[in-house]
Amino acid sequence: MYNKLTVEDVDVKGKKVLVRCDFNMQLDADGNITDENRIVGALPTIKYLMDNGAKVILCSHMGKPKGEPKPELSLAPVAKSLTEKLGKTVVFAADDNVVGDNAKAAVAAMNDGDVVLLENTRYRKEETKNEEAFSKELASLADLFVNDAFGTAHRAHCSNVGVSSILKPAAAGYLIEKEINFLGNAVNTPVRPLVAILGGSKVSSKISVIENLLKKVDKLIIGGGMAYTFMAAQGKTTGTSLLEPDYIDYAKKMLDEAGDKLVLPVDTVITEKFDNDAPSKVVEGAIPEGWMGLDIGPKSIELFKGVLADAKTVVWNGPMGVFEMPNFAKGTNEIAAMLAELDATTIIGGGDSGAAVNQAGLGDKMSHISTGGGASMEFLEGKELPGIAALTDK
Ligand code: 3PG
Repeated sequence: MYNKLTVEDVDVKGKKVLVRCDFNMQLDADGNITDENRIVGALPTIKYLMDNGAKVILCSHMGKPKGEPKPELSLAPVAKSLTEKLGKTVVFAADDNVVGDNAKAAVAAMNDGDVVLLENTRYRKEETKNEEAFSKELASLADLFVNDAFGTAHRAHCSNVGVSSILKPAAAGYLIEKEINFLGNAVNTPVRPLVAILGGSKVSSKISVIENLLKKVDKLIIGGGMAYTFMAAQGKTTGTSLLEPDYIDYAKKMLDEAGDKLVLPVDTVITEKFDNDAPSKVVEGAIPEGWMGLDIGPKSIELFKGVLADAKTVVWNGPMGVFEMPNFAKGTNEIAAMLAELDATTIIGGGDSGAAVNQAGLGDKMSHISTGGGASMEFLEGKELPGIAALTDK
């Protein structure tokens, strides 16, 4: 980053500060938050503002209510969780208009150090279109703006980009600063060797990441479902495995260009049915007709571990197999365990890889788990994130 103002560069004492967080989280059937990583990530900025005498007005989206109130996507559970974590009541401004009479009254009643949470910004149809009317309403609540929603930084919506152009100064919070520092240093000024691991199901969704990372890394390991398209490009059969036939030529081109920078699986755990309990076996090379690959095999695990052994910086995005099924989680878990032991900076992209590392109980062994799935991907593609670009320059 850091030509942008940060929260410490602005005077917040006695000021009403609108803070955009990313509290977009999964809720279970009883409305409980299933993974509080994003709430925990937002705490340093909120605490700093409270401790420095600001009136802290939090806002976020959750899910896709498509411009109308949806009680199951209310941010009320987030206010409850924040109240527990901060040890102070976070007033939830229930309000179908987000910035309606209730929200205005809650803000008017604030003292320095108080915290109010607004309702889901996507209750308003203007939000995702970045329409000025709603940006102005949000801005009218506060004296200055802090954006700490890294997970939403790849969106240009009212509550991050629109409001930044009206409510100035618009500064970055600690979470955005931390994310950009970890991801930015990893790809732009890494301690080498830099190894990236890409997995997940589709080559098509990771083309720009592959291209950008190939320019920067010492090795790029590819596993997971996307490896089968590369396997097909090597002329091997892939059975009924995930395959994107339209991207085989692209994969061939990448193989030619990248040479031994690109490291692919050499064996696969295969099965005839997409079922955790279906019988499975390991094959080297081609996958027979009627069989599908659901995980990398033991030789691939050893190969990847060998590549990782000397790494000083590792960026990982996307699982090595269907880690949600215990019988096909070994590849993903072994890579997670290897990273946990490495004497290196280990950065885990959000989404599935973050979930996999946490599922393995190794979250606290990594240098950084990003709170942004889509946002970290776009950052790794080398794109400018609009939520960050819109902040006030230093
Ligand atoms: C995310 O979870 O990736 C962000 O909160 C953005 O959510 P969205 O994909 O619904 O815009």
